[in-house]
Amino acid sequence: MLEFNCKNVSAERLGEGNGLNLEDEFNKYNDKIAKIISDLNSKKDKPGQWLQWMNLGYSEETVWFVKEYAAMTQGRFENILVLGIGGSALGGMAVCEALLKPYWNLLSPEQRNNMPRIFFLDNIDPDQMNGLLNVLDLKKTLVNVITKSGSTAETMSQFMILKNRLEEELGDDYRKHIVATTDQTTGILRQISNEEGYKTFVIPDDVGGRFSVFSAVGLLPFALVGIDIEDLMQGVKDMDLALKNTDIRHNIAAQNALIHYLMDTQKGKNLAVMMPYSSRLKYVSDWFVQIWAESLGKNKNLDGEPVCVGPTPIKAVGATDQHSQIQLYNEGPNNKLITFIRVKEFDSALEIPKIFEYTGIGYLGGKTINELLNAEADATRVTLVDYQRPNVTITLDNISPYNIGQLLYMLEVQTAITGALYHINAFDQPGVEQAKNYTYALMGRAGYEESAAVLQKKLSM
Ligand code: PA5
Repeated sequence: MLEFNCKNVSAERLGEGNGLNLEDEFNKYNDKIAKIISDLNSKKDKPGQWLQWMNLGYSEETVWFVKEYAAMTQGRFENILVLGIGGSALGGMAVCEALLKPYWNLLSPEQRNNMPRIFFLDNIDPDQMNGLLNVLDLKKTLVNVITKSGSTAETMSQFMILKNRLEEELGDDYRKHIVATTDQTTGILRQISNEEGYKTFVIPDDVGGRFSVFSAVGLLPFALVGIDIEDLMQGVKDMDLALKNTDIRHNIAAQNALIHYLMDTQKGKNLAVMMPYSSRLKYVSDWFVQIWAESLGKNKNLDGEPVCVGPTPIKAVGATDQHSQIQLYNEGPNNKLITFIRVKEFDSALEIPKIFEYTGIGYLGGKTINELLNAEADATRVTLVDYQRPNVTITLDNISPYNIGQLLYMLEVQTAITGALYHINAFDQPGVEQAKNYTYALMGRAGYEESAAVLQKKLSM
């Protein structure tokens, strides 16, 4: 189980102006939170609620099919190339970076247990794409194209380029190098996959992109590179059971949701920083930024009233960003709530040799880098309190599939509860759709002619 420490948001430590009287707030919000949790759990099976992500941990069928495919393809490919963007890429990147050995793609096949290398292409930068295409041997590459809608311009343009290249290089065999993860029935990618006969995996109905990491969106790439997806899902299930507890005193996702909500609405802390002290968790921050921003940034509440809410998420990584952002967090505007993620036991240790006696650095000799990193995490937390800056800490025993499943699922539930506290729909993204539609218009998609004319006018002004 993860540990959650929220003592550094208390009024006792930060003063009334910046801190919360947690006991009082937990008492005050207990019934409301209990109702939110009950509602989420009772509505999760209802179509149209976009809560199917709460059931993904229990989808043994998906785990089985994904593992079967991974076993079938094992040894056939040197590279997995994932095409996707936003929720179709960030969860995969976060989990792979956390759970694969560091610098995975640079390791020898033996060091990778003969598992393939993995590349995520989550942008349409031509230089980056050409660069990757120049280094990948497509004859030894499996392309996993992931898009729920099946029509996202970035992903589908990447896919069209890759499909063409694969066909040129491999002739009729190219189909065996494509696996599509998309909606069961709708969308252009589903249609193409049916016509072309690609192997496909399904993104279930009512699972939004940013909540899809535990569907085939994530599970397929994870299984293909040998991540233990059963342990990952066990972490999700155990966390789900723990978070069914309607008593806020025993529900860490609810506690952190309420803290974030109150810090924003009562104490002016409308910036939410995610700062793991682990490079392997760096992309967890990217994933969090998306789920927090897209879920909570809304201009209308559930009653249709204008609200324009949403704390702005910021990504950071310790100790690196101590030398970049912490000056601002300590002394700049007191408008941030920082979440630290701390790892007790790293997979390896590294001792700093006793080679210098200088007072300024001699003390480091004989200690480990592990000790130094965690000392820096603790020092930063305490310093922030000295400056009356609120922060919470999530501690993982180690970085394992089980703990990563727990962490990401906890943050998903925290997001859903926070959305309910703001009384907004955390599961739509009209602001993203709008930009997608403008792109279609600019690129000449049929049906978007009127928008194109308006846009051209605006762009020329
Ligand atoms: O969370 C979301 O819904 C979005 O970030 C989508 O994942 C992103 O826009 C990509 O959409 P799609 O999977 O339809 O290509």
